[in-house]
Amino acid sequence: MTFPIVRHRRLRQSAAIRGMVRETVLTVDDFVQPIFVAYGSGIKKEISSMPGVFHFSLDNLEEEVKEIVELGIPAVLLFGIPESKDSVGSSAFAENGIVQEATRKIKSLYPDLLVIADTCLCEFTDHGHCGMVHTFERDGHVCGDVMNDESLGLLVRTAVSQAKAGADIIAPSNMMDGFVQAIRAGLDENGVSHVPIMSYSVKYASAFYGPFREAADSAPQFGDRKTYQMDPANAREALREAESDVLEGADMLMVKPALAFMDILRMLRDQFDLPLVAYNVSGEYSMVKAAARQGWINERAIVTEMLLGMKRAGADIIITYFAKDAARWLREGK
Ligand code: PBG
Repeated sequence: MTFPIVRHRRLRQSAAIRGMVRETVLTVDDFVQPIFVAYGSGIKKEISSMPGVFHFSLDNLEEEVKEIVELGIPAVLLFGIPESKDSVGSSAFAENGIVQEATRKIKSLYPDLLVIADTCLCEFTDHGHCGMVHTFERDGHVCGDVMNDESLGLLVRTAVSQAKAGADIIAPSNMMDGFVQAIRAGLDENGVSHVPIMSYSVKYASAFYGPFREAADSAPQFGDRKTYQMDPANAREALREAESDVLEGADMLMVKPALAFMDILRMLRDQFDLPLVAYNVSGEYSMVKAAARQGWINERAIVTEMLLGMKRAGADIIITYFAKDAARWLREGK
């Protein structure tokens, strides 16, 4: 018995047919553009390892935000570079902190643009860790433990102050255990119970954050983040992390980084019904930019393929430094 050749190519013969049978489509509604805000005035400073990404002072924010709104991107994710740092990251939860001020400014200019606030302490602490640390000396080296439960109160204060400043979504990225429950309770008790939590549920201890740490000046001064961020070797652990966040009241789940963790996106999509977010992180951006500058790859084609891969793997939302570029390419069409 012989079978006829299955003619898969019938559905690939023209752009029109390919368009009709396409399973995954990127739209501008998928994207979130991260923005770094800094103190000072007149600042638009390019981050050397992230060409095309800048630090903006508040007075220069409008131009950037206007472009984002005109491109139709629905949301921005804010990171702040504070004026001063201390051991508990006080400027993360100061009423006039940089993220709080930037949020107020953006919401007053463009009330419909969603502001997502990254809730973490690492940009604001002098030791660069995401929570409070207990330091001690061992063999002449400074060591430290990040104190989980002691850190929760500061993270709650940060989230509440961000929400009160007008942030539409709180995105805690600190990876302390119990952070979703604590922040949910804090938001509910402080009159901002309408604000959803986009939890960085599954956040790996990744070398792909390298350029971000230059951008946010948040490299840990001792040790690393492996005691609170996940081991890239683990997949089942991602299910446990996500499950606890669901039980604690997360409204959206995130996987970060994206490219080396597409299997995790797929697993979470299959196991949970909450909206799923992929974070296409700084190192993923810088690699593409560097290769494109050398003329080694076609940037637009590569980025489109990466973003499609994240969506195909199950992401509903993609946080990406390419958001503006991708929005422009979608608008230009073929
Ligand atoms: C804060 C935070 C980090 C990133 C987002 N939020 C850095 C880290 O954990 O070191 C990384 C984002 C990126 O690399 O683009 N905790």
